[in-house]
Amino acid sequence: MPKLSVNDLAVEGRLVLVRVDYNVPLDGARITDDARIQATLPTLRLLKARGARLVLCAHLGRPKGKVDLRYTLRPVAEHLERLLDANVGFSPKTVGPVAAEMAARLAPGGVVLLENLRFQPGEESNDPEFSRQLASLADVYVDDAFGAAHRAHASTVGVPALVPQAAAGLLMERELEYLGRVLHGSERPFVVILGGAKIGDKLPLIAHLVPRADHLLIGGGMAYTFLKAQGKPIGGSLLQADFVAAAKELLHEFGGKFVLPTDHVLEDATVVQDIPEAAKALDIGPATRDAFARIIAGARMVFWNGPMGMFEKSPFDQGTLAVARAVAASTGLTVAGGGDSVAALHASGLADRLSHVSTGGGASLEFLSGDTLPGVAALTEK
Ligand code: 3PG
Repeated sequence: MPKLSVNDLAVEGRLVLVRVDYNVPLDGARITDDARIQATLPTLRLLKARGARLVLCAHLGRPKGKVDLRYTLRPVAEHLERLLDANVGFSPKTVGPVAAEMAARLAPGGVVLLENLRFQPGEESNDPEFSRQLASLADVYVDDAFGAAHRAHASTVGVPALVPQAAAGLLMERELEYLGRVLHGSERPFVVILGGAKIGDKLPLIAHLVPRADHLLIGGGMAYTFLKAQGKPIGGSLLQADFVAAAKELLHEFGGKFVLPTDHVLEDATVVQDIPEAAKALDIGPATRDAFARIIAGARMVFWNGPMGMFEKSPFDQGTLAVARAVAASTGLTVAGGGDSVAALHASGLADRLSHVSTGGGASLEFLSGDTLPGVAALTEK
């Protein structure tokens, strides 16, 4: 780990600005999945125990630089208070005199959460003045927001350049360690499972991982573009026509590694091998599930991103659940990253059985595509 760690900092009595990713799904003011908040608790507990005074900053949604109270972080502060079993102050202003006053009043171990960074136009434009205002709230900076590390914003790259020390939090370190092992590890067989609808978002990742992977299992909406590229009938199933040529090229170069679905669950829940012309497939079928599970069982390292079908609607969740169970049962290194497959793991109660479930969506995909994440590059070298 070439970056400074939160463990390396002297924090007692000092103001520590902690960037966290609390971009959580909400139903009104109710948090429907708090995994991202839970994942920061080790860093927060460590800093509290060492007598730091914690100023937390985060974004929620995309309010586009304007105050929009549908995206207030106040419910998150209340939720965090329960999780930490300690007072968490909430500053209704992100920066300025109110925020500065609340920070100045913090006792050692005290915590305040600032209002949504993205209520300020300077956050996403990485405005130097906004960075300066944020940095003025802190003696040192800790970044535990792996999920936002692919964004070059004021709170992720502006502030680290202005403070004497910018360190990685424990979650950030854990993410870099496990995703780093997926990227560089030598455990074989290495199995990559990819699903989800948007093949375009995943092409850089496929191109980067496929030369090192032994098997690439493809399910979800993107599978039909690959099947089309093979000349198989896909009926009215999801097709991203613009990517058929790219899929063809990948199959041509690495064909032996790709494992595509051989049976499908149609809209009316029937199972077929060949998709009829008027029909639409919404999940991988039972034979495909078994084939995927057998390959996963033999793996020493597994990376999974994306659901195998329309998992939010029963019975089209069965393919995704079968893969979740197979990954959970694997005795190798198992890492899941990104969005819906992670949601499926949490919903099925299997997340704890994996080596690591990433809190990053876009960030984990960019990292595994070989990109340098600006939020990581901005941290102080060890
Ligand atoms: C995420 O949810 O992936 C991160 O919090 C980043 O959010 P963004 O895509 O709105 O920048």
